[in-house]
Amino acid sequence: MIKVITYGTFDLFHEGHYRLLKRAKQLGDYLIVGVTTEEYDQIRGKLNVIDPLMTRIENVRKTGFADEIIIEASAGQKFRDIKKYQIDVFTVGSDWVGCFDYLKDYCKVVYLERTKNISSTMLRAQKTHIQRFGILGTGRIAQRFIPEAKLVSGVSTQGVYNPHLESAARFAKQWGIDAYRDIEEFYDAVDAVYIATPHETHYDYIRSALAHGKHVLCEKPMVLRREQAQELFAYAKAQNRVLFEAVKTAYCPGFNKLLGIACSGMIGSVRNVDACFTKLEKPETREMNDLRFGGSFTELGSYVMLPIFKLFGTAYTDVRFDTITGENGLDLFTKAHFCYPGGVATAACGLGVKSEGRLVISGTGGYIVVEAPWWKTAYFEVHYENPSEVDKYSDSFKGDGLRYEISDFLARINGSVRNEFKLTCEESTAMAGVMERFLEGQGRNL
Ligand code: CTP
Repeated sequence: MIKVITYGTFDLFHEGHYRLLKRAKQLGDYLIVGVTTEEYDQIRGKLNVIDPLMTRIENVRKTGFADEIIIEASAGQKFRDIKKYQIDVFTVGSDWVGCFDYLKDYCKVVYLERTKNISSTMLRAQKTHIQRFGILGTGRIAQRFIPEAKLVSGVSTQGVYNPHLESAARFAKQWGIDAYRDIEEFYDAVDAVYIATPHETHYDYIRSALAHGKHVLCEKPMVLRREQAQELFAYAKAQNRVLFEAVKTAYCPGFNKLLGIACSGMIGSVRNVDACFTKLEKPETREMNDLRFGGSFTELGSYVMLPIFKLFGTAYTDVRFDTITGENGLDLFTKAHFCYPGGVATAACGLGVKSEGRLVISGTGGYIVVEAPWWKTAYFEVHYENPSEVDKYSDSFKGDGLRYEISDFLARINGSVRNEFKLTCEESTAMAGVMERFLEGQGRNL
């Protein structure tokens, strides 16, 4: 019996897939089809697969060509499968010519002619209206947005708005997009806005973007007052628009894997979370000089509160702050202490003090350590009482990591994802509440 194997995502099952499977089956007597998991596709950089794994498997099954369907969950699996299933022929479409020649030592490798003029990518683009993004602000974070947005299919970056036309024009020229000084013209040209302006301007921009019917992805901290966050989320809902706070860690695959493990009971019940993020900032920057809205906590506090709210929820019984301030009164380093009925947590961040950027999650049966930079979660370890017993996990974190939040934001806009569990309105609102309390404690006038 000749055994054949082939692999694919098989998203939005189409004629090209059907013809490939038919010919694959004709290469032998028994066909095994490997269908990729969502997680593996994410790691491979396929961020916008629409059909869930079960639907993709079902579509392959319905063709009647597959004698067996397996799941492809990691790189390197093909090699193992060929040995495990004693495969005679490995086949894929001609878009992969040469890529699998390394398997020739173990079985025959056949590249089947790809069917012309059809692909999942094409169907995804037809299915989803391309969302035109506009950027408000031209600072450092805005610079990172465009190359990351290019990696998410279904998004085009249309233009940038800055009341200082010169800055907008410079930015627009650099990235080959349009520059706008008139905000009405800007809103007319886009479907969604990415807000990357100074913190204190977020509230007004979010309100005006929502009022113009735009979806909003706003840099963190979205706002610095609980009431404002509540009001904006309610307004977004009323306008039937998506409002997202861009805390990139919340959307990255490694961080979500980490949360899954922390909540799975592997380390027992979580009792303590310590998160730290420091980034030495130059003295002349806005963050180090804006006496009302600058400083460490407003800049980095969203990140360090994230794992705490994710693991303990937002109903803390107390929060207090220890702060080291610089000569101008801004906090160079801040430690927020949270108390919960069943646990405690610290969120430490600094722009003028450097420390180890670790996240440690301690439970009744063990602890998880994510080494710096934990906010770009790529690798973590689970430790137990017995020091020689260590479980190691990794996941990919590509580029600047904004592609994950952009991809989730887009999925919400297109309605392919309805829940908001990665960062809920309640969590964003609680973050604004803590920021407000911190600034009040500092005597800063909001
Ligand atoms: N395939 C094919 N002809 C097509 C499209 C895909 O023969 N027009 C083959 C691929 O070469 C692969 C298998 O079908 O062997 C599964 O491919 P997959 O990546 O799932 O489909 P694509 O349409 O290529 O998906 P995407 O556009 O997301 O890359």
